[in-house]
Amino acid sequence: MIFGTLFLSFVFYSAYIYTAGTEVAHGPEISDEARRGQQVYQEYNCMACHQFYGLGGYMGPDLTNVISNRGAAYAGAFIAAGTATMPNLGLSPEETSDVVAFLGFVDTTGTYPPKNYDVTWYGTVRQEDDPQ
Ligand code: HEC
Repeated sequence: MIFGTLFLSFVFYSAYIYTAGTEVAHGPEISDEARRGQQVYQEYNCMACHQFYGLGGYMGPDLTNVISNRGAAYAGAFIAAGTATMPNLGLSPEETSDVVAFLGFVDTTGTYPPKNYDVTWYGTVRQEDDPQ
């Protein structure tokens, strides 16, 4: 009886696993331009000095929300010209606009640092704009 129950559970659960779709929830769509910009970001090793969501190198500021905080024109000018502490990496105008598009894409994925959050009773952190 017990064996039969376990066996049936196994059969039905396996059938369910093999037939259920494996689609995952998608985040925001990424444009071709932003995808090229991601390549640029990797090629020029921007993450050696910059962070997304607090992860990366710590010589420069976090870039997660740089586009909504400072604007695309500001970021583009910064990348094209460099400053005393950020090197001018010699990106072409096209690479610059692609990487700015990528930064814009990253900006749409969330906010860092989380501004308003509360801790749920089971210990995870919930941002105010998260679905409940
Ligand atoms: C050698 C380290 C280094 C590398 C590599 C680097 N940056 Fe920076 N970046 C900095 C520093 C330091 C600053 C702050 C400079 C300042 O305020 O004068 C900065 C500032 C910026 C800013 C302005 C941010 C703000 O909030 O003011 C942007 C945008 C930016 N970098 C983008 C990039 C991109 C895109 C790349 C790759 C193509 C890159 N950086 C590579 C060091 C770096």
